[in-house]
Amino acid sequence: MLNFHFYNPAQIYFGKGMEDHVGEYVSQYSNQILLHYGGGSIFKNGVYDRVTASLRKAGVRFVELGGVQPNPRLSLVRAGIQLCDENNLDFILAVGGGSTIDSAKAIAVGVQNPGDLWDYYMDPEKPIRGALPVGVVLTIPATGSESSPSSVITNEANNLKRSIASPKIIPKFAVLNPEITYTMPKYQIACGASDILSHLMERYFTPVDHVDFTDRLLEASMRTVLDNGPLALQNPTDYHVRAELMWVGTVAHNGLLNTGRIGDWATHHMEHELSGMYDIAHGAGLSIMTPAWMRYVYRENVGKFIQFSRRVFGVEYPLDDPRALVEEMLFRLETWYRRMGLPVRLSDVGIGTEHLEEMARRCMLGRGKDGHFKVLTETDVLRIYELAL
Ligand code: NZQ
Ligand code: ZN
Repeated sequence: MLNFHFYNPAQIYFGKGMEDHVGEYVSQYSNQILLHYGGGSIFKNGVYDRVTASLRKAGVRFVELGGVQPNPRLSLVRAGIQLCDENNLDFILAVGGGSTIDSAKAIAVGVQNPGDLWDYYMDPEKPIRGALPVGVVLTIPATGSESSPSSVITNEANNLKRSIASPKIIPKFAVLNPEITYTMPKYQIACGASDILSHLMERYFTPVDHVDFTDRLLEASMRTVLDNGPLALQNPTDYHVRAELMWVGTVAHNGLLNTGRIGDWATHHMEHELSGMYDIAHGAGLSIMTPAWMRYVYRENVGKFIQFSRRVFGVEYPLDDPRALVEEMLFRLETWYRRMGLPVRLSDVGIGTEHLEEMARRCMLGRGKDGHFKVLTETDVLRIYELAL
């Protein structure tokens, strides 16, 4: 186990009706805020009405900026920075999923740092001096952005999707009411579960040995997603199922399960090139890239893959043939993705060979190499895209 420093200051308010108190939570920080949201689902399911009623009751003045798209765009972020500057807004409340939260975090950084915001996304070493505080009402369990230190933004001028990470953008609080997720479209339930599973797998496949405690926590978390994902599709209003997914989604990405180990993250980076280039949902890109990455890298540490196959997927044989065992695990994983209604090949979403080389090149921009379980070169990344065809 490696040395580590674990700190996650995001307060979590979990359960039924919690969003009715969001005005009280916000007023601990500010009484003039930016209210940021997506394409309108919060109007249809009543969340907007409940949140704004609570803000008014607490005497919080708000300026609104809606219209965040999945794979959030830099241009709307710039509009948000301008709104905050013009109206002296010093807190951002994101009501939505990862895209809205990430857009809010980007605005928060843009307001408090000099120069062009996009330079911070292109250069992970560029120091972030500060950020406006951000609060969250989460409407979709998926990215873990509600308590993560990252923000992922797409620059529509060049289709590059890039991220920043800083403890300064961990939200001050997140309101998690599983009932709010009842109205999610089935495809988003599936994409969200796929993203949570991937955050757990990225951490699981580490080059670090002797991490049994976090291995076990990760295995239990993965089983929680594998068991509850299909149940959420079958019965979207089962509170207990939605609660399991919502909480595991947050814990998957709040840093706890990363303690003492190094995650891989190459699959996420390859996926970001896909969703940057083709504007597909992040969770769907992950269900395509994960099996391809596994097929390419499992020889790097066969023992870890056997442990994963046995403990998470219950594959017990043939132990004398690791390749067959891993293939059986992959069959079960791909069957799960398909059962969730997710793609497992690029061809499933109509993508061919046309941009594979370009995506492999872009994946290496500013990195040189990628991944930790197996360190990948640009050629490796291209091979993995080809395996995903
Ligand atoms: O925009 P609205 O109308 O709200 O509709 C959204 C959107 O169309 C809809 N939705 C959300 N909650 C709903 C709902 N519809 C009905 N009822 C509800 N309760 O779902 C659609 C997808 O929303 P989005 O926010 O895009 O989804 P998600 O949470 O999966 O976020 C994906 C983005 O986060 C990034 C991804 O790359 C992607 O850009 N990630 C952010 C991370 C982070 N900051 O830590 C880590 C992740 O690995 C990921 O990369
Ligand atoms: Zn993700």
